[in-house]
Amino acid sequence: MLLTKERSPSPDFSPLAFCEDLAPLPEYKAAGTIQVDFAGLLSEPLQLHEDLASGCGGQLWPAGMVLAKHMLRYQRESLKSARILELGAGGGVVGLSVARGCTDLEHPLILSDMVEMEALMQHNISLNKLDEKAKARVLNWGEPLPQEIVDFKPDVILAADCVYFEPSFPLLMKTLHDLFALTPTATVFFCYKKRRKADNKFFTAARRAFTVTEIKDEDSPVFSKNGIFLCTFTHQK
Ligand SMILES: C[S@@+](CC[C@H](N)C(=O)[O-])C[C@H]1O[C@@H](n2cnc3c(N)ncnc32)[C@H](O)[C@@H]1O
Repeated sequence: MLLTKERSPSPDFSPLAFCEDLAPLPEYKAAGTIQVDFAGLLSEPLQLHEDLASGCGGQLWPAGMVLAKHMLRYQRESLKSARILELGAGGGVVGLSVARGCTDLEHPLILSDMVEMEALMQHNISLNKLDEKAKARVLNWGEPLPQEIVDFKPDVILAADCVYFEPSFPLLMKTLHDLFALTPTATVFFCYKKRRKADNKFFTAARRAFTVTEIKDEDSPVFSKNGIFLCTFTHQK
């Protein structure tokens, strides 16, 4: 996999102690821009600026890499007419990989996160000249869905490494419920890395509320050894 980095000077560290306590950063990195091509799945590599100054979503997380690669390898065809929303997008690795790798998406996809991450999402969209294929929007879990999302009616939801902070579990669950209320046929592609026992609480609630189906991926034997799980959530009939 192509993964190169031009480092710029390290930022002062950073409002992340809280995040790092709950989900140790994969590796603390200085701000900089990396290129990823997912073992050639992207013919033109994606450039991703990483900067932890705005929050822990400012660097790539392992489940994001796994979900991005999975979507490129297995889902490209199915996404052509999809209305795609990414939750907790951080720098946007998953959504931007889809935007770059799916040449004929009918609808621009939406990357969403908290307001602190909006500038980084937008920066990465522009860095990759994907302004016509992706938008950066604020979507706070647990709050009413923004009108633009309600009108968009997403039917493919991407969420990677969004389970790491127990108080936010009910907020994320509420947003998922709201999205299924909007589009009962939606599919959530959910990838997460289990870090602590409390993560089970989220999955117990998810299994009660949705149909949770493990997804097969040729890399499963490798990433599952690292505690990473890939599944879909669909509406319970
Ligand atoms: C561990 S990072 C994962 C980032 C990215 N998905 C990846 O895999 O590289 C979790 C992301 O969820 C976002 N997040 C956390 N709580 C949130 C909330 N209440 N509403 C919206 N986004 C939230 C964070 O800002 C962060 O970008």
